[in-house]
Parts: sequence; structure tokens; C-alpha cells
Amino acid sequence: MADSVFKDVSAYEVGEQAGVDSLRRVKREIGEPGPGEVLIKTRAASLNYRDIMVLEGRYGAKKPDSRVPLGDGAGEVVAVGAKVSGISVGDRVSAPHFNLWLDGAYDPSIFAADLGNTADGWLSEVVRLPASACVKLPENLSFESAAALGAAGITAWRVVEVLGKVKAGDVVLTLGTGGVSIMALQIAKMNGARVVITSSSDEKLELARSLGADSTINYRERPDWENAVVEQTGGADIVVETVGLSTLDQSLAACAPNARLGFLGALGGVPAQGPTLTAMLIKNVVVQGITAGSRRNFADLLRACSQNGVSPHIDRRFPFDEAPAALQYLASAQHVGKVVVTFD
Ligand SMILES: NC(=O)c1ccc[n+]([C@@H]2O[C@H](COP(=O)([O-])OP(=O)(O)OC[C@H]3O[C@@H](n4cnc5c(N)ncnc54)[C@H](OP(=O)(O)O)[C@@H]3O)[C@@H](O)[C@H]2O)c1
Repeated sequence: MADSVFKDVSAYEVGEQAGVDSLRRVKREIGEPGPGEVLIKTRAASLNYRDIMVLEGRYGAKKPDSRVPLGDGAGEVVAVGAKVSGISVGDRVSAPHFNLWLDGAYDPSIFAADLGNTADGWLSEVVRLPASACVKLPENLSFESAAALGAAGITAWRVVEVLGKVKAGDVVLTLGTGGVSIMALQIAKMNGARVVITSSSDEKLELARSLGADSTINYRERPDWENAVVEQTGGADIVVETVGLSTLDQSLAACAPNARLGFLGALGGVPAQGPTLTAMLIKNVVVQGITAGSRRNFADLLRACSQNGVSPHIDRRFPFDEAPAALQYLASAQHVGKVVVTFD
């Protein structure tokens, strides 16, 4: 088993969590995998807005300084512990960041093993994961694509497919052009839906059009964007609410009767005055809180992307050595879709 011990593994830790600059580069030793565990050589990791929140100390309780960040990644299995079946050395795998949520309904206990939050994440050359959480990658999906599909893809999948039960012809509204929103666009288009997307930037909206968006609205030029959605489409059947309380009333006003709205974001902060929810009542909108999803949701998403030849849109790649710059870039919100860290 001596081969299973990795010395001098490069990783980053969250440090004191006073901002992205808190990130610190370290060397670690990764011991052999315990029963039910695998070791994975990381080949790609991807960034989410919540990684910025973790580094700024705004995501739940303060983490130990030594916590390794990032919930999403993919790589190659390099060691397998006892009592592992179905996963072998050499397999290409990824895993949902909630390692304990394998299938079925949400339960808060999943937060006990949340990569990059309550457990060490993917910003390390080698990671240790429970084999039960791992999903083997379809052959035509790259490590980068699998990593990029993680939290953003699973969350978008749960809103559009699981809650929304999307069907051809449905109108899907998604806010902004970040990771979750662009994945929602790509998933909705796989299903023949009509997609409306908003953004602060015409340039970003043009890119969204090239990815299949049917209607685009610049929310800076059109602050009453909810009216534009209704004018252009008659109202949204499914809404991916990435911004949160500050836009909830507008998102509800953009809905068609009997719409489904996945409430998942916190980009807009908490406004002084809360939403009135009037349109929720009048339009009989179903609003559900969404907390990413399960291994089953992730496996379904990977299969759908593989079979439809869909790759998540990756805005920019940074080598592992430049991971801090990757996080700064994400924080600057210049990206469309996903930002990925690559490993040699
Ligand atoms: N509940 C969950 O399980 C879950 C999972 C994943 C993410 N999330 C949440 O979902 C949100 C999006 O995450 P992400 O990783 O996709 O973020 P991201 O990639 O960093 O996306 C940020 C983009 O959102 C848009 N945006 C920012 N502030 C906005 C505002 N006030 N109004 C409208 N659009 C705004 C901007 O796009 P434009 O410049 O195009 O406007 C910005 O580039 C975050 O709040 C995140 O915490 C939740």
C-alpha cells in the first residue's frame, strides 16, 4: 500500500477567510485510502460564487484555516481502499459536492460532508473521497466539462428538470450569465424550451444567444425586465432565480400562471424591504428553495450532456499555479458560464 501514500501534494487552503487573498499554497501528505474511500488525482476543478463567499467568511460558520476550497472537480482514481466496489484505479470520476446525498429527497444532514465547506475540496493535486459519491464519466465528457457541470449544473438541473419538469415549448427564464444561469440555458435548450436570459451586458447577451438563448434582456437598460419577459413570451413557465430576495417580486411578475420558480441565489443580498409575493398568489406559482442536488441528479445530468453532445460553456481556464487569479477573475464577474482550474 506504500504506493497509495502521496507526499508533497500541492494544495491551497482557505486561510483566515478575509478575502480571496487569504488563499495559501501548502504541501500536504495524503495517506492511503481508508475502507470505502478512493484517492483521485485531480485533473480539473471549477469555481462557483460560493467559493468566493467561503473565502470572504460569508458562507456559514468560519472554516478551519486548513480547509481546502472548491466543491467541484474531476480526476483519475489512483488508489482504492478496502470494501470499494464498482470503482477501480484508472477510472475517470467526479462527484457532487454534497458527498452524502446519493439519491432521494433533500435532508440537511448532507451538509456534514460538503466539499469546500465542511470537508476538504478539489483545489489539491490529490483528493480523498468516499467511493459511494463518485460518478464515472461518460467517455465523451472531458475532465474539464465534468468539473464545470458540478454544483452549477446540478442546481440548474434540479430547477429545470426536477422542479420545472420542462417540456418542449416551455418558456424558461434565467437571471444573469453566471455558471448556474448558463447551465440552465443549456439544459433548457436540450429539452426544446424557449429561453429568456437577462444580463448587465449586451456583449454577454450576444454570447448567450450563440449558446441558444431565444430572448435576451439587458436589465440595466430595462430595469422593468419582468415586463419585457411577459411582452416577449407571455410569461415564464420555469424561473431560475439566481439573484435572490432583491429580484423575487420581479421574477414572480415575469411568471406565467402555474409557473415553477427555483429559489437558489444570494447575488443581490438582502434588500431593506422584502418581497410582497403578490404575483405568487395571483398566478399560483410554485416556489421551491433549491440546495444543489444529489449524486443521482449529477449522474442524470452527465448522461444527458453525453447523449446530447452538450459541453458546459467554459469562459476561461487557469493553471493550478494561478488558482488565486482564477478566483479573483470569478469575483470580478466578467465571465459567462464557468471558470475552470486545470492540473498537469
Ligand atoms: N442553492 C444552491 O444550491 C446554489 C448552487 C449554485 C449557486 N447558487 C447561487 O446561485 C447564484 C449564482 O451562482 P453562480 O456560481 O452561477 O455565480 P456566478 O457564476 O459568479 O454568476 C454571477 C453573475 O450573476 C449576475 N448577477 C450578479 N449580480 C446580479 C444582480 N444583482 N442581478 C442580476 N444578475 C446578477 C452577473 O451576470 P451578468 O453580468 O450577466 O448580469 C454575474 O456575472 C449565487 O447566488 C450562488 O450562491 C446556489
